[in-house]
Parts: sequence; structure tokens; C-alpha cells
Amino acid sequence: MTSRDRLGVAVVGAGYWGPNLIRNFRAADDWDLVAVCDLDTERARRVLGQAPGIDVTADLDAVLAREDVDAVAIATPARTHHAIAEAALRAGKHVLVEKPLAHTREAGQAMVDLARELGLVLMADHTYCYTPAVLAIRDLISRGELGEILFVDSVRINLGLVQPDVDVFWDLAPHDLSILDFILPGGLRPTGVSAQGADPIGAGKACVGYLTLPLAGGAMAHVHVNWLSPTKIRQMVIGGSRRTLVWDDLNPQQRLSVYDRGVDLTQQSVDAVDRTSSQISYRLGDTWAPALPEHEALGVMVAELATSIRSGRAARTDGAAGLRVLSVLEAAACSLAGGGTLVSAGIVDEPVLEGVS
Ligand SMILES: NC(=O)c1ccc[n+]([C@@H]2O[C@H](COP(=O)([O-])OP(=O)(O)OC[C@H]3O[C@@H](n4cnc5c(N)ncnc54)[C@H](O)[C@@H]3O)[C@@H](O)[C@H]2O)c1
Repeated sequence: MTSRDRLGVAVVGAGYWGPNLIRNFRAADDWDLVAVCDLDTERARRVLGQAPGIDVTADLDAVLAREDVDAVAIATPARTHHAIAEAALRAGKHVLVEKPLAHTREAGQAMVDLARELGLVLMADHTYCYTPAVLAIRDLISRGELGEILFVDSVRINLGLVQPDVDVFWDLAPHDLSILDFILPGGLRPTGVSAQGADPIGAGKACVGYLTLPLAGGAMAHVHVNWLSPTKIRQMVIGGSRRTLVWDDLNPQQRLSVYDRGVDLTQQSVDAVDRTSSQISYRLGDTWAPALPEHEALGVMVAELATSIRSGRAARTDGAAGLRVLSVLEAAACSLAGGGTLVSAGIVDEPVLEGVS
């Protein structure tokens, strides 16, 4: 851990998303942004504007050689994450990586293993997890307000850019999967993954995707991602044994609604033919909207990175969380190729990070 009050950070990649990291690191009490590294230095300079004292360079090695850089934040395309993260870790830097953690599970695993071996923080920027809505959902679930989770239904559809290199699952589902990992007790651990996709416009990749994730205890999560929908929907329904929560991210007046409604099976039928002995009751209680604080997710995210480095505890969206998301995405690709068969995500427990210096 550094003895300085503020930690030094370099941002690598100043394209579409990098400027958001740059802005939040510059505004944070915990951080000094000391360098921005991009192959396109002109672009990086334009993003920074007048910023005396912040180095702009295309030379990653020069950035990694600096003693005042405690952490490197990587906002380059996914296929470059592994090489940059590995170089940064080997130079003794803590690493924040944009989602997805890597372009393959194997590369993600190598990053997680290396960070653990070197005792350094590896964190994934799962930005949604730091929004007021998702933090509140996680809190409600962990306090038992929803009871046992019975189902999750997540819809993320709009007219999206058909990406040149990835299908709709890899483009959009990392958001839903990282949120599920964050809010479900025990994280994202489906007992299998089944994916079905469609390419009705002949783009050469799935533009419409449905992911089915059976969860332990008979629950089920479903994710619908779609680039072809003229209407934009960002909605997640989380059904619990006590209450059901609806998150509508496009409704700023009432993003979260908690329904004290549901179905209870008070007595199970012993006879599959004669169902009269099963007793179903319906709860039709109140609906309420939890008040949410206002803050920018990335501000909380960069504070979490600083806390993780200083305290030595794993970040709330650590490398292992990024790896669980990659595991489900790879299992989904495998299922898709097999016509929707149920595939194991093979998620194993990563050892807990200890003794980060
Ligand atoms: N957290 C979020 O919600 C969110 C949103 C959008 C994008 N992202 C992620 O951010 C990452 C970047 O996406 P983007 O849309 O900003 O990409 P982009 O193509 O707009 O920008 C990438 C930048 O990285 C630079 N670059 C590429 N290789 C480099 C290298 N080896 N060294 C230094 N610079 C290099 C490019 O010159 C470019 O300026 C991706 O992983 C993407 O998934 C996250």
C-alpha cells in the first residue's frame, strides 16, 4: 500500500468509455490521475483538454515504469485486456478492467490467477452494480425483504449497434449477468446455461438472444437481449417468496417498485391427478417505491477500487466476479452452437483475496 494520501492512477484507452473513467478519477478524493495512455494520443489530448501535470502517451511501458502509478484502469477493446492487465500486474500495479474482464474465460482466469499470485487487486468495472438502484436491490435481497428468490426476468432490448466482433450476448448480457452476480446471494452460480439466438436480418451473428439460467433450489433466471427492438426496455423483475421487485431503469421517477404480492402454496397436493388438495393463496398487499440516493455509479466504483487497495479486501466486483460472467457467456456460446442444449458454466469458487499489499 502506498504511504501517500492519494493513490496514483493511469487510464489506458480514451475512446468512448475511457473519458468517463478519466472524469471520475479526476473528481475523486482518493485519486490523482497521473497519465492517460492511448495509441491515439491526439484523441487522448482532446479528451483531457487543458490538464497540466497529466501525462499523455502511447507508451504503456513508460506508464508502468512510473512509481507514482499505483493502479492502471483499462478501457481498451476486450481482446486487448489480457495483455495490458498482465503487463500492469507484472509491473506491480493494481488493475481495474472494463467489462467484459477478457475476451475469453481462459484469458480471464489467467488474469485472476496472476493477480492472486502477486497479491494485487484485480477489479472489473461492472458499472451497473454501483448504481443507486442495484445497490438498493442488493441491500433489499440481503436483508431478506424479498424472501427466497424464485425467478428473475431481465429484459435489455432496443435498436442497438450491430457490433462487428461480438454477438448480442457478448455485447449486452454482461450487464445483466454482472447484476445477477452482484444481487443474488452467493453470486452467479446457475446450475446450467441454455441459450437461443436468432439472426433474422442475416448479420452473421445472433442479434436476438434468450438466456435461460436454472438456479439452485428450483429458481430460474431469464435474460432477453436484443439489438432489433424499436422500443427500448431496461427492466428486471425479481420474484421472491415474500415480495416481488420490479426495476425499470428508464423510469427515473420510480425506478424500483416493491410489490407485496405473490402466490403461496400452503399445502401441496399429494395426488397429481386430484389437485383439489393443494392450497394456493394469493397475497394482494401494497406496492411501495424505495427512495434512492443520487450519485454517479462510476464515482462509487473508483472509491471501491481505492478501498480495496487500501484495505486488502476483494473489490465488490472483483476479478472472480468478472470470471463468473465470462464463464456464463462461454457456456452460452457453447449452448447456442448446440441448438440451446443445457451446458454447465463450470463456475468454481476462486480463493478469497488475502493480504493485498
Ligand atoms: N462499463 C460500461 O458500461 C461500458 C460501456 C461501454 C464500453 N465499455 C467497455 O470499455 C472498453 C472500451 O470500449 P470503448 O467503446 O470505449 O472502445 P473504443 O474503441 O471507443 O476505445 C478504445 C480506445 O482504446 C485505444 N486502444 C486500443 N488498443 C490500445 C492499446 N493496446 N493501448 C492503448 N490504447 C489502446 C484506442 O485507440 C481507443 O481510443 C470495452 O471493454 C467495452 O466493453 C464499458
